[in-house]
Amino acid sequence: MPPLTEVLAMPRGRFGRTWVPNLNLEGKTVIVTGANTGLRLECVNHLARSNASRIILACRKTTCEKRTNIERVRTNLERLDAFIANAGVEVQEFQFVEGLELQLTVNVVSCFLSAISVLLKLRQTAEAYNIDTTLAFCGSMYHFMGPDAELDIPEGAETFDTLSDPKRTDIVWQYALSKLMVHHCYHKLATSLRNSLKQDSSRCETELSRAKPHPFIERVSFAVMGWRSER
Ligand SMILES: NC(=O)c1ccc[n+]([C@@H]2O[C@H](COP(=O)([O-])OP(=O)(O)OC[C@H]3O[C@@H](n4cnc5c(N)ncnc54)[C@H](OP(=O)(O)O)[C@@H]3O)[C@@H](O)[C@H]2O)c1
Repeated sequence: MPPLTEVLAMPRGRFGRTWVPNLNLEGKTVIVTGANTGLRLECVNHLARSNASRIILACRKTTCEKRTNIERVRTNLERLDAFIANAGVEVQEFQFVEGLELQLTVNVVSCFLSAISVLLKLRQTAEAYNIDTTLAFCGSMYHFMGPDAELDIPEGAETFDTLSDPKRTDIVWQYALSKLMVHHCYHKLATSLRNSLKQDSSRCETELSRAKPHPFIERVSFAVMGWRSER
């Protein structure tokens, strides 16, 4: 559940100011997916203001000929300090992409496949420069509305195929379900990599909370236990 203070503060979001961390990212290379618009375009602007040396916008719609390609990240990029997996979509009608319901494909499968693909580069950078690197996922408060029961997949059935079945799945709650799955997946990933990653990616001081009107709780929790983006 989101903190009650956040829920109560939401209507005031239009008039409030969000907290923006003061960072110096000189020398750092950051990739942001879905960065051509919305929250992450703002994130990119902030990364630029924070002196990040190289910011790679991984977008599907771009005026540039070249798009970010994971193979090029692995082979051509000297270092990768942070990967911000942000691309996401919310729809209210069934659409299928790559054999699965659209929101499952974009918000969960593509998100984690791209993140896992850059893990090695993040780790190599951490070791080469003796620093901590950052992997950030874009969750949503809506995850608490995700219908848990739908994740009770019948034995022998394939999870994503089952959740893409229009007869079984209520599309109205699919976005919330996809964000609930993001939470499950990153907890699983963080747990699996706990011994090999130098960070806890579940609480990382990225731009994720900048849209919130009163991020007081985040500020306190980051001060107590959060990681800073550049670390
Ligand atoms: N806005 C909120 O209040 C809020 C709250 C919590 C979480 N979030 C999350 O924040 C993230 C960004 O959302 P936003 O509000 O900034 O929305 P947005 O303005 O619609 O941005 C979404 C980004 O994801 C990309 N994207 C969508 N479908 C894609 C696909 N099939 N393949 C590749 N890229 C795709 C979009 O690219 P195109 O421009 O090419 O479509 C765009 O760059 C999402 O993960 C969302 O779930 C948003």
